[in-house]
Amino acid sequence: MRTGWGDRELDLPRHPVADWAAARRTRLAQTFPGERLVLPAGTYKVRSNDTDYRFRADTAHTYFSGNQTSDAVLVIEDDHHVLYARPRSDRDSDEFFRDRQYGELWAGRRPSIKELSDSLGIEVKHIDDLPSFDGDDRKVRDVTTDEDLGRVASELRLAKDEWEVGELQEACDITALGFEDSVREWDRVLEFGERWIEGTFFRRARAMGNDIGYDSIVGGGKHATTLHWIENSGPITPGELVLLDMGVEGNNLYTADVTRTLPVDGTFTPLQRDLYDLVHAAQEAGIQAVAPGVPFLAAHDAAMAVLAHGLEDLGLLPVPAEEALDPDSKVYARWTLHGTSHMLGMDVHDCGKAADDSYRNGTLGEGYVLTVEPGLYFQEDDLLVPEELRGIGIRIEDDILVTADGYRNLSASLPRTSSDVEEWMARLRG
Ligand code: GLY
Ligand code: MN
Ligand code: MN
Repeated sequence: MRTGWGDRELDLPRHPVADWAAARRTRLAQTFPGERLVLPAGTYKVRSNDTDYRFRADTAHTYFSGNQTSDAVLVIEDDHHVLYARPRSDRDSDEFFRDRQYGELWAGRRPSIKELSDSLGIEVKHIDDLPSFDGDDRKVRDVTTDEDLGRVASELRLAKDEWEVGELQEACDITALGFEDSVREWDRVLEFGERWIEGTFFRRARAMGNDIGYDSIVGGGKHATTLHWIENSGPITPGELVLLDMGVEGNNLYTADVTRTLPVDGTFTPLQRDLYDLVHAAQEAGIQAVAPGVPFLAAHDAAMAVLAHGLEDLGLLPVPAEEALDPDSKVYARWTLHGTSHMLGMDVHDCGKAADDSYRNGTLGEGYVLTVEPGLYFQEDDLLVPEELRGIGIRIEDDILVTADGYRNLSASLPRTSSDVEEWMARLRG
């Protein structure tokens, strides 16, 4: 069994991320001079018994190394950077034939040490040679536990470099195809419900990217008022709306995060259109507020002002909109529920460990990518709104790049106005 096999090490080209990752490591090391920075890729997680989830590397690990193989650890000490990796095993090993997690016969070919170092442009050693670092006098920080390193690793990711913007644009473009696929299959959607859209979108994500960046949210009718409805087990019912919040994660792990709310019949009822147009106006105001140097919260504040006035016009607010917008009131929040924006990148909620001063209470910089995603949600048992509104949820979400003089909408290829949505659905449904 162990003899008579050919073998061949691949000549891998340098991955486009390699030079970017090297520059990122240098910036990180400069923040912690004389220290040892440890960034693990993570390992498999059990789904049930002896079956694991598909592996997806830790974001900080991949951002600073380009590596996506499991069980690796990146160690940065000033200008000395080593990737300790778990490479493929030889055909004369037990692992090759017997190990269900790492054995090539079971799980597929892993890259060799040389293949990793050629493609990633970094020194690579076997994970078994990772030192314990005991008794060493360098301060050790592990990105999974050290708050300062976690924060800096998040903050360095706020401004996307040119290559990352390309990756995010590609994720948005594939995501648009996934939305289109779903509408093209509307007959099946009506037959099988939310599940058909989830599956259809996932097929596109796997065909052209790595995965979905987060569990798709497919909210038919009242399910749209559950912010993270990921059960996706309900029907798609004529006359109702369906909220689709879905994003493809590309092969280099950058994800889109896009929401569209569609009329199941292909045309909005007058009431649905009024509410949709209000959310669209709020989103447009939020997007228009995006520019370098403005507060991160500017998009949120602009969108909320529109929504509060719209809710006032609907007669729903107990106080005038201007009073409701006071931070001490926010009575409108019962129907808007969440902030309009978060950073977007390799994590759908990107840069999550950045300090408030540089993120939530900070200002936008060129290269930042954020979502703008206001919504209106009327729960089915909300006695403060007329019955005709109950069970309606609407969100529109786009992925916005901050440019030198304003913004660019990376997900602009999907329609946003109510009439554009209707035309788009009519065209795709034939
Ligand atoms: N898809 C989750 C979010 O929009 O934040
Ligand atoms: Mn989002
Ligand atoms: Mn979303």
